[in-house]
Amino acid sequence: MTANNRIVLSSDHSAIALRQVIAAHVEALGWVAVDIGPMTPESTPYPQHGEAAARRVASGDCRFGIILCGTGQGIMMAANKVRGIRCGVCGDTFSARMIRQHNDANMIALGARVIGEGLALDIVDAFLTAPFDGGRHAPRVAMIDALEG
Ligand code: RB5
Repeated sequence: MTANNRIVLSSDHSAIALRQVIAAHVEALGWVAVDIGPMTPESTPYPQHGEAAARRVASGDCRFGIILCGTGQGIMMAANKVRGIRCGVCGDTFSARMIRQHNDANMIALGARVIGEGLALDIVDAFLTAPFDGGRHAPRVAMIDALEG
């Protein structure tokens, strides 16, 4: 585990219950879960929640971000607009591992209407335990970041 052991979690209204399960799970693993909501079930637009979580990661306040919406797609798109964020949607553990090992992802997005709780927790575990491989992947990640201008 890195020196910064904080993980920010956020979602839209479609994923509150799964987000809270994941927050408890990462706390049990020894991380500090920074759950920035929302806490109430009213419909709320995913872009603002993706952005809020992304800013916590981009600023260095949190090491990783875990964000959720119905599909994971919309909130991922919003998070990736924030400079310094590399976020992928994952519905399987292989992809979750690879976005760390090859892409040095600092956020992961999950679809609460796509996957169940058990798979979601396995995906989170894969994401949090896989290191960035560096090497030939480092210049490729730098190329992604360079697209931010
Ligand atoms: C909300 O109904 C839904 O559009 C949202 O959770 C997400 O799936 C968008 O990408």
